[in-house]
Amino acid sequence: MEWLNSISEDIIPTNITNKEEKLEVARKVAEKVKDGDVIGFGSGSTSYLAAIEIANRIEKENIHILAIPTSYEMKALCQDLKIPTTSILANKPDWGFDGADKVNKHNWLIKGRGAAMLKEKLNMVNAGITYILVDKSKIVDEFNSENSDNNLTIPIEVLPEAVNSVKEALEDLGAEETVLRKAEKKDGPVITESGNVILDTKFVEIYDGLEEDIKSIVGVIESGLFMDYSVEIIKPEERKD
Ligand code: A5P
Repeated sequence: MEWLNSISEDIIPTNITNKEEKLEVARKVAEKVKDGDVIGFGSGSTSYLAAIEIANRIEKENIHILAIPTSYEMKALCQDLKIPTTSILANKPDWGFDGADKVNKHNWLIKGRGAAMLKEKLNMVNAGITYILVDKSKIVDEFNSENSDNNLTIPIEVLPEAVNSVKEALEDLGAEETVLRKAEKKDGPVITESGNVILDTKFVEIYDGLEEDIKSIVGVIESGLFMDYSVEIIKPEERKD
């Protein structure tokens, strides 16, 4: 028996920015799906659009895949779209797709606006290739350049007991701002799906090796900095307007 009204409709994104460009890259990644694939499904609004495009192909072409979702909301969406899911405990992804908050010319990524970067990185290191779906607003030349706007906050997932010691260690690494992410419509901090908190951190410089340095701090679970992973960036076509 199926639920008549699924509550999961309430947790999927509604006001999607740059929707046309996100839809374009979502369609491109959906074309890559082959029968029998185990696919890592990222999180965020672009991944949401990609999941819908993939579900359309599954229905029209009778394709069978397994999805490994990276968040509660992606799992619920897959359920609504009738895309069968598995977990990384049971299956290794053949490939994956995901969004990003920023990407630079070295294919380094900043992710974690939605606090899902732990499972996103877990999928990414286990997938042969991950397609990163970005609209043009996400693309910068260098993370440290003056024109790369002010959106270069790196989210860091931290064991709750360790926030003070991690904050101090991050400052030693060059963090100039470290803010505990607060929940909306709940008192206190955002609690991640793994029961941790998020420190949104701005660094004086995002240098090669910073990801490893952050990860080496005891109490850090994972960061939203993704440097040198096996990724291919899918971006919208240049248009002559
Ligand atoms: C989720 O934690 C994030 O890493 C998202 O993948 C990222 O924020 C991109 O989100 P949008 O596709 O909504 O821009």
